[in-house]
Amino acid sequence: MNLPSKVKLVDVGPRDGLQNEKAPVPAAVKIELVQRLQDAGLTEIEVTSFVSPKWVPQMADAAEVMAGIQRKPGVRYSVLTPNMKGLEAAMAPARELWPDEIVVFGAASEAFSQRNINCSIAESIERFAPVVQAARAAGIYVRGAMSCAVGCPYEGEIAPARVDYLAGLMKGIGVQHIGMADTIGVGTPLKVQRAMEATLRHYDINDVSGHFHDTYGQALANTLVCLQMGVWQFDTSSAGLGGCPYAKGATGNVATEDVVYLLHGMGIETGIDLEKLIDAGKFISDFLARKPNSRAATALLNKRAN
Ligand code: HMG
Ligand code: MG
Repeated sequence: MNLPSKVKLVDVGPRDGLQNEKAPVPAAVKIELVQRLQDAGLTEIEVTSFVSPKWVPQMADAAEVMAGIQRKPGVRYSVLTPNMKGLEAAMAPARELWPDEIVVFGAASEAFSQRNINCSIAESIERFAPVVQAARAAGIYVRGAMSCAVGCPYEGEIAPARVDYLAGLMKGIGVQHIGMADTIGVGTPLKVQRAMEATLRHYDINDVSGHFHDTYGQALANTLVCLQMGVWQFDTSSAGLGGCPYAKGATGNVATEDVVYLLHGMGIETGIDLEKLIDAGKFISDFLARKPNSRAATALLNKRAN
């Protein structure tokens, strides 16, 4: 097996995890979650989104959260920016408060592109192009996300050719890294492998990541198939929080705790302290008055209690 010896996990919990919560989560809680994740050894954290507060009210405090985090050297802080307005807001304060990385997010399905960002795939690329150019000119790294790369809540199954098409467009406008996302968690390993192969037609193995929601309990299997292809970067969410407001019925991202347990059990390094990570997941779960949505966290918390 062609397994990587080290894996980088991007915890998207503060963004993907919390964007879908109906009750407001105070900026101070989001800031503490970021702090706990970096203390646990995460080297990239997706902190927030500079999107319309009418579309995603939970992310309305993006600037406050970015200003409040205590940056740790060696950690990369990323934010979502769907358009120039979002990038300008992210870059409005002093340079030390800028994100290290921005994410432009498109979709392999037309219907999801319309519902999520209110434009077609072609229009989204036109909007992203100046964002990518301005960010790169300012020294900010640019990642792209491809939603619905396997299945769409409105269009059903998505063919790998659609992923191939979108990945090519993203590459064409200068997006440096691409995340292949199973937004609604319907993928199974062979379908995910084909979507990843389509992505790899345009991007180097070192510039791709997997982003798997766990709605149908397939995310670990999908992670494993990508690991076997040599993919070494994944988005995960502490305590399995998450979901997209425009993908009804989809549950959270695969829990960071579960992926760390999988990787460490396979002898793959992550630099993450699982016990501290579990504390971070418990912190946010306690705030939300629910149990962590992670089998590994549940098992290890039960073990602690006995
Ligand atoms: P629009 O309505 O077409 O935008 O929305 P517009 O340019 O016509 O502007 C309309 C209003 O929005 C104006 O305000 C703008 O100022 C404001 P008004 O004059 O009505 O008061 N506006 C903004 N405000 C703040 N920040 C901005 C911004 N842009 C416009 N950046 C837009 C287009 C993209 C803005 C909207 O559709 C939007 O915000 N969508 C966000 C959707 C979202 O955040 N979804 C969740 C994240 S994606 C995800 O979860 C998937 C991912 O995890 C991967 C996966 O799992 O698939 C990444
Ligand atoms: Mg997502």
